[in-house]
Amino acid sequence: MDPVKRQYEAYPYPERDPAEEAGRLIIGSPSHPFEIDHFLFAGARDWSQPFRVLVAGGGTGDGLIMLAQVLADCQVNAEIVYLDMSTASRAIAEARAAARGLTNIRFETADLLNAAEYGLFDYIDCCGVLHHLPDPDAGFAALRAALAEGGGMGAMVYAPYGREGVYQMQDALRTLVGEDDPETQVARAKVVFEALPPTNGLKRNPFVHDHLEGGDAGFYDLLLHSRDRAYDVPALFDAVDRADMRLLSFTSPGRYDPRMMLRDPILRERVVALPYREQAAVAERLSGNMKVHNFYAVAKGAEAGRIAMPGPEAVPCIIGASPAALAESIHKSGGIRGEFDGLAFQRALPPETAGIVMNMDGKRSVDDIRAMLGWRNDKFEPLFANLYQPLNNFGLLRFSGLQRRMGMS
Ligand SMILES: C[S@@+](CC[C@H](N)C(=O)[O-])C[C@H]1O[C@@H](n2cnc3c(N)ncnc32)[C@H](O)[C@@H]1O
Repeated sequence: MDPVKRQYEAYPYPERDPAEEAGRLIIGSPSHPFEIDHFLFAGARDWSQPFRVLVAGGGTGDGLIMLAQVLADCQVNAEIVYLDMSTASRAIAEARAAARGLTNIRFETADLLNAAEYGLFDYIDCCGVLHHLPDPDAGFAALRAALAEGGGMGAMVYAPYGREGVYQMQDALRTLVGEDDPETQVARAKVVFEALPPTNGLKRNPFVHDHLEGGDAGFYDLLLHSRDRAYDVPALFDAVDRADMRLLSFTSPGRYDPRMMLRDPILRERVVALPYREQAAVAERLSGNMKVHNFYAVAKGAEAGRIAMPGPEAVPCIIGASPAALAESIHKSGGIRGEFDGLAFQRALPPETAGIVMNMDGKRSVDDIRAMLGWRNDKFEPLFANLYQPLNNFGLLRFSGLQRRMGMS
């Protein structure tokens, strides 16, 4: 059996308990429908039209369940095809879907290299999979071949610098326990891990703890993987390009803006004159802590006008926080602050921006919010521009008319 299939049959990853679906919906990026709309359909997709989605290498179902639940809640006529070669992972994803009563998913056990056999898709999700293929280029090409005209892809691949120490450990453990069965590998590798000296690269890397907290499946996925590569920014752009696609944006654009780490005004000016790919490469090298790249890509030649822009008709949606909580935190702290794997960011904001955020219910357009507040354009527009940039850069705000359509029906 292929060693990667053997791994995901023994250790479906990430570990998930279908019973927990009753209490929470896991939200992530890419592939939240608001985000798909924002990055691929200018925030203005006609959601009354059918929507075909492929979740390629869907695993235990995190992206799948988020997509299926939000699309079902918003009454979108969606067909979601789940593909994975691991039957054990599929069983968990199916149980999660059943626990939620979701009926918009078709489950298939197959290799994503055959994706186009399932038809053409308006959206393809492929997270944490391509870097495990024997020939990742063939995977990129197979997904490109399954994209409908006007469609797009949201994907995640590993990045090297934040995974410092991981590949040395994988190599050492392959030598030590690579011939053992998966359970024995885990047991023996844990003993090795516990006794690692503080000089070990992984011990000195604080960024990979989420995997290590993910039970035996997380441990195996991080340290015992038989096929696992990472893409730095130039390698990623090249792989997307070879598949006849264009990388449109990373999902947290702010993280790829090197100005976040540059104070010298001359260098800040110099760096923004570079092509997007080079700006992102500098940001990756300066920050040194990126362990994945989350991004959206489309077929070459079909990229114009894809990413939503602020404007009176745009409908802002807050993801991953309630507008009231975000507004309160802006009000209290005088801005937005947070961190990306230890890299702190903050942006001061005028107190009036909290009032704007408060009214972002996902149904009101930018102009509706302005009118509700009773402000003229000359007051509102500069405040909104000031607010939009950091919220979008840090993945908190997307434009999508998806919920507005619900409100109007
Ligand atoms: C790390 S898991 C990621 C699962 C899911 N996408 C997520 O983000 O939670 C990788 C999954 O890709 C699947 N996979 C790997 N190679 C594949 C291939 N060639 N075709 C289909 N599935 C594949 C594995 O079985 C596994 O379930």
